[in-house]
Amino acid sequence: MVNSARTEAGVALALLGALEAGAGDCVSGGQLGRRLKVSRACIWKHVQALRRQGYEIRSECRKGYRLLSAPERITPLAVQKSLVASVIGREVHCFDRLGSTQDVAFRMAQKGAPEGTVVLAEEQSGGRGRLGRSFYSPRGGLWFSVILRPPLEPQLCLPASLMAGVAVSEAIAGITALSPVLKWPNDILLNGRKAAGMLAEIVAETDAVHFLLCGIGINVNIARHAFPAELTDTATSLSAELGREVGRTGLLCAVLERLDYYYQALLRGGAEPVLAAWKRAPNFLGRQVSLVCDGKLVEGVAEDLDGQGALLVRGAEGMRRVVSGEVRLAEGAPTLRDHVGGRV
Ligand code: BTN
Repeated sequence: MVNSARTEAGVALALLGALEAGAGDCVSGGQLGRRLKVSRACIWKHVQALRRQGYEIRSECRKGYRLLSAPERITPLAVQKSLVASVIGREVHCFDRLGSTQDVAFRMAQKGAPEGTVVLAEEQSGGRGRLGRSFYSPRGGLWFSVILRPPLEPQLCLPASLMAGVAVSEAIAGITALSPVLKWPNDILLNGRKAAGMLAEIVAETDAVHFLLCGIGINVNIARHAFPAELTDTATSLSAELGREVGRTGLLCAVLERLDYYYQALLRGGAEPVLAAWKRAPNFLGRQVSLVCDGKLVEGVAEDLDGQGALLVRGAEGMRRVVSGEVRLAEGAPTLRDHVGGRV
């Protein structure tokens, strides 16, 4: 758990725990105050804060407080209750509807929000994808941005963005029976269709990163028919693949924990652990691909990643190092849907 019982968030967590333990029965304010070692006024203040997060709590005269229901939407408290991470998720901000979590995280980072801050929205009206595209982000998905402040030179940040893909892929594989496939740099495919995407944005000077925003979008519980027509052939969701819904708070915590793990590894020992994990996961390496890089068409075999996470493509004119672009499996090559599990 990120917060100790002495912090404000610690009191809130302990209060929620005590109300949940009441299993719908009344728990008196005095009893709660004694247990949490705070005043009744403090309990009242935290009850109000829980209500603002969407917890339905009835106060009954002379009896105390009764937890009637928890919100369906994700709350900071629900995340912090189960998250085991050292940096990521230190602060969690949850919103019902935003234009883009990247924009809000950007403003928070500029104002000095600590590394590891998470900004999440139930729904985005202006979700942004890579290469200037828009990103469909309705209710039912996980749309969030994480503020990182890596002490790296800007040109060494590509592995920091690849780790988001690894974290999401491992979290999905760990929680469900699905087999995600990584498409360089940062897409996650399920049965050949895109289920998640990452957007890494850096604010830096020539030799120092001010902050890196790691934006992650996962199509969790979105019905197949709910995707707009232009996405029906290319997008999917976890629930559409599994035929059942997936708990979003649990998945979010799993992603944040994997992200925390790889971020600590990156800071301690450089890019190697992240790159090794990326290469271990099912991915496009070894396949014939095509992509547009610096306005030029590059075709060849996606042979490897270099030490900085760039894609090495061997074509007719030798090896090409690619740092950005939209990779496609080359025309005529078998599609990912022809493969079940394993490296593709
Ligand atoms: C892509 O696939 O092109 C990247 C998609 C990134 C989407 C996420 S959702 C949370 C965060 N906020 C945004 O506006 N974009 C990222």
